[in-house]
Amino acid sequence: MSLSIGIHDLSFATAEFVLPHTALAAYNGTEIGKYHVGIGQESMSIPAADEDIVTMGAAAAAPIIARHGSDRIRTVVFATESSIDQAKSAGVYVHSLLQLPSATRVVELKQACYGATAALQFAIGLVQRDPAQQVLVIASDVSKYELDSPGEATQGAAAVAMLVSLDPALVRIEDPSGLFTADVMDFWRPNYRNEALVDGHESINAYLQAVEGTWKDYTEQGGRTLEEFAAFCYHQPFTKMAYKAHRHLLNYCGYDTDKNDIARAIAQTTAYNTVIGNSYTASVYLALAALLDQAGDLTGKSVGMFSYGSGSVAEFFAATVVAGYRAHLRTEHNRETIARRRPVDYTGYRALHERSFPTDGGHHATEAQTTGPFRLAGLSGHKRLYETR
Ligand code: COA
Repeated sequence: MSLSIGIHDLSFATAEFVLPHTALAAYNGTEIGKYHVGIGQESMSIPAADEDIVTMGAAAAAPIIARHGSDRIRTVVFATESSIDQAKSAGVYVHSLLQLPSATRVVELKQACYGATAALQFAIGLVQRDPAQQVLVIASDVSKYELDSPGEATQGAAAVAMLVSLDPALVRIEDPSGLFTADVMDFWRPNYRNEALVDGHESINAYLQAVEGTWKDYTEQGGRTLEEFAAFCYHQPFTKMAYKAHRHLLNYCGYDTDKNDIARAIAQTTAYNTVIGNSYTASVYLALAALLDQAGDLTGKSVGMFSYGSGSVAEFFAATVVAGYRAHLRTEHNRETIARRRPVDYTGYRALHERSFPTDGGHHATEAQTTGPFRLAGLSGHKRLYETR
């Protein structure tokens, strides 16, 4: 009999500031309906000068360590596509900020927005090998596109931390998975660039191909039928994409694409992403958090999870909600995390967007802006200096 392994706890953090799409639309003259309805985005999280994937990742994971301790965690997997170093894992900084035991393995994973799902699957493998152990998975990203480009309105920033263990309190991750890889150039970020390059319309097509590909493989591997799923969490580069994806899947399976049916399957998964923006690796797990926080009792129900990372790799799998999960949710904290962000005006946002770190190796303190628990204090000798507030 296969063991019950999955997500035991899930916590997220986002950035200090928030830019409403009304401010972006007022600046660039876009009809607001395009943002609110056309792509399904209301606002985006904007990191302060002293925030990055490490400070957000540590802020997401700290409540998990506070609740469960770190005695059973022997592995930390940090997934990101907005990496801060070509060699050192961002997870090592988080390990230090959270004072995790030295007897820990820490590694960073990358495959665009898909990385956290690979991390989750690798974590399950490790727990299967030694069920006494837990794995801390952190997905943290700052999504940054060129100013005045079509992608700009889909920016965002957030981190999700998940504790993977035997007999999880939230959801069991089931076998099989449906897998799909295709070599496409829909979104990428060469090492010499701070902002991603994206062919937005190509990325929508590539994503829909991946929905088909993963579902085909999932079915061939003996997965559940469409009717067995209570809801579907799709990766949400912008929340409208989840609706497009689900319509495509229903069509592919020969079903009618009734608007209300699609809304029933998707609507409760978009609440966090619509106000946070794209958080790349964290996005599909923010969709899961939003669903668990908002839906009625999901005990025993299966949720279809679709993870997509441009370039591209995708995976479809079932997460089945376990009895008693509601007692372990962080719903109030999650709402506060979003509500506590401070509005930034367009000029302030643009200044933060245009900032870049000096590359001269000197000592450079960063402006103290964040009110979060961890901050990037500065750079010195090409090293990032973090502190706990
Ligand atoms: N009211 C309501 N809807 C409106 C509107 C209005 N006033 N104006 C436009 N729209 C709709 C369009 O009809 C379109 O909807 P559709 O896709 O259902 O047809 C939608 O808004 C977007 O309009 P579009 O002209 O396609 O916008 P765009 O050329 O600026 O590009 C994206 C949109 C999503 C492609 C672009 O934001 C992007 O590249 N985002 C990044 C995507 C990404 O990161 N992908 C990689 C990871 S998967």
